[in-house]
Amino acid sequence: MAAHKLRLGVLGSGKGSNYRAIQDAIDRGELAAETAIVISDVESAGILDIARTRGIRAEFLPPGKFRTKLEPEAEARLVELLRETGVELVVLAGYMRMVKPPLLEAFPRRIINIHPSLLPAFPGLEAWRQALASGATKSGCTVHYVDAGMDTGEIIAQAEVPVLAGDTPETLHARIQVAEHELYPRVVGEFAARRAGG
Ligand code: GRF
Repeated sequence: MAAHKLRLGVLGSGKGSNYRAIQDAIDRGELAAETAIVISDVESAGILDIARTRGIRAEFLPPGKFRTKLEPEAEARLVELLRETGVELVVLAGYMRMVKPPLLEAFPRRIINIHPSLLPAFPGLEAWRQALASGATKSGCTVHYVDAGMDTGEIIAQAEVPVLAGDTPETLHARIQVAEHELYPRVVGEFAARRAGG
């Protein structure tokens, strides 16, 4: 009998390079996972194009009138979409809105995020810029469970990168993203392996 494939629901607002790294690993047969749906609050987000190109269901979800969270009706629709597609693990990949109780309660300890710093240092926006400005000699990325706070959930795994003399925000961010693209598929693979193992 074929091993169970962990069904992923991916949420993103941007270019989707982390999703691409996860999908590439799935397509290479390295993860016991499959992407059930990719959802974005931004109609033109690259992450939706990546999914469509791979034949994965991709949905734009109009967010409503708020800037940092979904309107309650939109969040309810989000939960409905994730449930009706049989999602088991919600993967935030550059999703720029706070997650609220309806989604948190529907997927307890089954929502994860990747953040471009060594949390708890530098939560929030443009963490690589914050790291550089602070004079830190190392930075990196963190995969964590999502809770109601901003980048405050329990840490699952981290990868470090050096901050080099002469770094700009762009060069540091690029180095962190290389680490993200290795770390995130590995962590998703660990969730999938646990699920496949019963
Ligand atoms: C990543 O740097 C991630 O850490 C942060 O948002 C960015 C998303 O990039 N949460 P991408 O859309 O995956 O390329």
